[in-house]
Amino acid sequence: PSSGNGLPNFRRKPVIIIVVGMAGSGKTTLMHRLVCHTHMRNIQGYVMNLDPAVMTLPYAANIDIRDTVKYKEVMKQFNLGPNGGILTSLNLFATKFDEVISVIERRADQLDYVLVDTPGQIEIFTWSASGAIITEAFASTFPTVVAYVVDTPRSEDPTTFMSNMLYACSILYKTRLPLILTFNKVDVAAHQFALEWMEDFETFQAAASSDQSYTSTLTQSLSLVLDEFYNNLKSVGVSAVSGVGMEAFFKTVEASAEEYMETY
Ligand code: GTP
Repeated sequence: PSSGNGLPNFRRKPVIIIVVGMAGSGKTTLMHRLVCHTHMRNIQGYVMNLDPAVMTLPYAANIDIRDTVKYKEVMKQFNLGPNGGILTSLNLFATKFDEVISVIERRADQLDYVLVDTPGQIEIFTWSASGAIITEAFASTFPTVVAYVVDTPRSEDPTTFMSNMLYACSILYKTRLPLILTFNKVDVAAHQFALEWMEDFETFQAAASSDQSYTSTLTQSLSLVLDEFYNNLKSVGVSAVSGVGMEAFFKTVEASAEEYMETY
């Protein structure tokens, strides 16, 4: 197949979906829902778990870091705390990542998607060398997109919303991959407010100005910066609990994968 990025081994399939999100955003529940959806719709997918410290997963992973790296032993062997243990485990796994890519390549014709769950502590993946190595290994072989999971009810507060969007922006900046803002928990709070804030920064500024602790100049400058950021991304509302938005999610992934093929 022709390759958008001109790399000889580049394939159109499967699309890699890296799922990241703040702790508590509902990443694991959403992964489970996405896996159920692919089973129900007969979509062929692989599931990969990159969290070495997770005790139990609600879904079956085809590729699991825990099969290769024993997190507790890494902690003991290198005398590390929990975060150092997760980071070192990810480093060890990253050194073998070419094997992981080969496994996916061998099955590529039969796979539509690879869903990738990342460690609960988001920065361990997004700010580590191994996270960058793994992301780069995916992105140089397959179309790759990042699904950034947002806790929608918590983001109704303008301050939290802006912090969350700035974090999402930093991920876009670091990975340089198509980013899908995945507004989760819409069964609790619809994400309409977020769409309005992203569409028109003056609406956001009006909402933010009711918060006296906010520095208005900073808010105005940041909302202008974010306005440019919003122009470059796609968003979708989902509920991992009710299952709303799954079709829309995969449609958005397809559109982002197209964008990847054209741009990267
Ligand atoms: P980790 O990677 O394990 O840290 O995942 P996470 O902390 O990002 O989220 P988790 O899936 O553990 O969900 C956190 C809480 O949010 C749990 O109590 C979930 O039941 C709840 N939750 C997740 N998705 C939804 C949703 O769509 N709607 C509602 N109402 N609750 C949700």
